[in-house]
Amino acid sequence: MEKEKIVNNILKLKKEKNAIILAHYYQIPEIQDIADFIGDSLGLSQQAKKTNADVIVFCGVHFMAETAKILSPEKRVFIPDMEAGCSLVSLCPTEDFIKFRNKYPDHKVITYINCSSEIKAVSDVICTSSNAVGIVESFAKNEKLIFAPDKNLGSYINSITGREMLLWDATCEVHDILKVERVIKLKNEYPNAQLIAHPECKAHILELADYIGSTTALLNYTISNQGKEFIVATETGIIHQMQKYSPDKKFIVVPSEENCLCNDCPYMKMNTLEKISNCLEYEVNEILINEDLIIKARKPIEKMLEISKKLGF
Ligand code: 13P
Ligand code: SF4
Repeated sequence: MEKEKIVNNILKLKKEKNAIILAHYYQIPEIQDIADFIGDSLGLSQQAKKTNADVIVFCGVHFMAETAKILSPEKRVFIPDMEAGCSLVSLCPTEDFIKFRNKYPDHKVITYINCSSEIKAVSDVICTSSNAVGIVESFAKNEKLIFAPDKNLGSYINSITGREMLLWDATCEVHDILKVERVIKLKNEYPNAQLIAHPECKAHILELADYIGSTTALLNYTISNQGKEFIVATETGIIHQMQKYSPDKKFIVVPSEENCLCNDCPYMKMNTLEKISNCLEYEVNEILINEDLIIKARKPIEKMLEISKKLGF
């Protein structure tokens, strides 16, 4: 089917089924353009909770669609491609994590939303890259903390808060391979450009950054900042919105290799318009989670949303 027909089919099915499309900023531009809401992990969770739709088509990765289901269990949640995973999820298996956690019974557990529902169920509170610092700071200074699974984000928070959280050893396979040598080369090529980076990047890139933030925070920074050139150390999908909001500004993506300009998350990019149309039409790829797990995983996510609200997110 050609693109226009697929888009029309999606729009028709959305109306018939009272469905909405939630899309992460790392989705392909064609998906971003038909989404009812585009956001980062926190924004998407908030939308999933408050929508009146009967059906959510979650264009992101599996843990995000699971989070939407946990927050809105009465709704049917679909993901265009069930295989859309995340390295942070696969590098934090439940059994191993529980063994680790049990070694430190006096520690509270803060987990990044990029983890499985089972890991969420054994956590005290969840965080995203937008609210991570605030969530950590909501614990008393002397509280012993475990942070999982992203060690880059965890050590960034340790460095700016002075905490000594124990870190689980996992990384985002997209952000972790961005190379500081490439960043330095680009900084030399574009001396007026500001370096903006996602906190899932390695410390030596973050140390050089003019601004560090979640996907939404990076976008907002490029909109409100007077600068005209930005070196962007994150996934490529966000450039679509940056360019849309600021057509007169230049965005330079940090490549992971010499001849590669594609910091594409292979999982985020699995979703296509055709797959969205299929899952709406044939009701395939539905997220199903058992009730007991929903109840256990929901508590730390709700706690995050409550703290976030107080923090003004
Ligand atoms: P945010 O959406 O919180 O910026 O996280 C980025 C990411 O890698 C999501 O998988
Ligand atoms: Fe996971 Fe990284 Fe892809 Fe986000 S960009 S889904 S953290 S692998």
